[in-house]
Amino acid sequence: MRLIPFATATQVCQWAAHHIAERITRFAPTAERPFILGLPTGSTPLATYKELITLYQAGEVSFEHVITFNMDEYIGLEEDHPQSYRSFMFENFFNHINILPEHIHIPNGNATDLLAECEQYEATIRQYGGIHLFMGGVGSNGHIAFNEPYSAFDSRTRITTLTEVTRQDNSRFFDKGLDETPYTALSIGIGTLLDAEEVLLLVTGAHKAQALQAAVEGEISPLWPISSLRLHKHSLIVCDAPACHLL
Ligand code: GLP
Repeated sequence: MRLIPFATATQVCQWAAHHIAERITRFAPTAERPFILGLPTGSTPLATYKELITLYQAGEVSFEHVITFNMDEYIGLEEDHPQSYRSFMFENFFNHINILPEHIHIPNGNATDLLAECEQYEATIRQYGGIHLFMGGVGSNGHIAFNEPYSAFDSRTRITTLTEVTRQDNSRFFDKGLDETPYTALSIGIGTLLDAEEVLLLVTGAHKAQALQAAVEGEISPLWPISSLRLHKHSLIVCDAPACHLL
């Protein structure tokens, strides 16, 4: 695992966007050989999406032959609910780039058969031969996607239950706060993430310092899902100074 510290969150997000654009461009994807990109939601990657849009508009990267897989989705929120991860992704990224709608994959938290949805999601990733680069964020308790503490390192896409800490953290996005914040989600597993050829995690802000410390200095343990990145040969954590203050 490599740790790349920057002074500010802006630098973190810009570096991440340029890294992703460079990976895609160097891969030179075609219809027969697309680039497979894993993507997160959350406030942290917003500036990365903005920078990627700017790079796309400047002609420096194209998403025509990029296939995306999102990490997670709440269960039971209407697809067009402003806080569904589907809405988030279209509003903040997909609507502004040249990605083909059929290349976008987001777990369907309203599927009638959620277990079948999870299996199908994993099967589709496998069909494409796996993910080249998975970008992610981290929760204040070290969760990745919605893999909460004690998630198995070999877990796959499944139904997960949010901890109270995560519901509290995420309630800020909902008009009615905690009352409206879902209890469950569909999430890729830690195993799904670690299968990617490269994993890039963005960690910014002092409220993530404990998680970063656990990832870098703590034991590799399911108590801190982020620590699983140390098991991956090509994992990168890009972080800002406030997130580093406990190291
Ligand atoms: C949610 C998402 C995670 C994300 C986390 C942190 O719980 N499921 O994928 O990493 O939020 O979000 P933020 O970047 O807003 O701190």
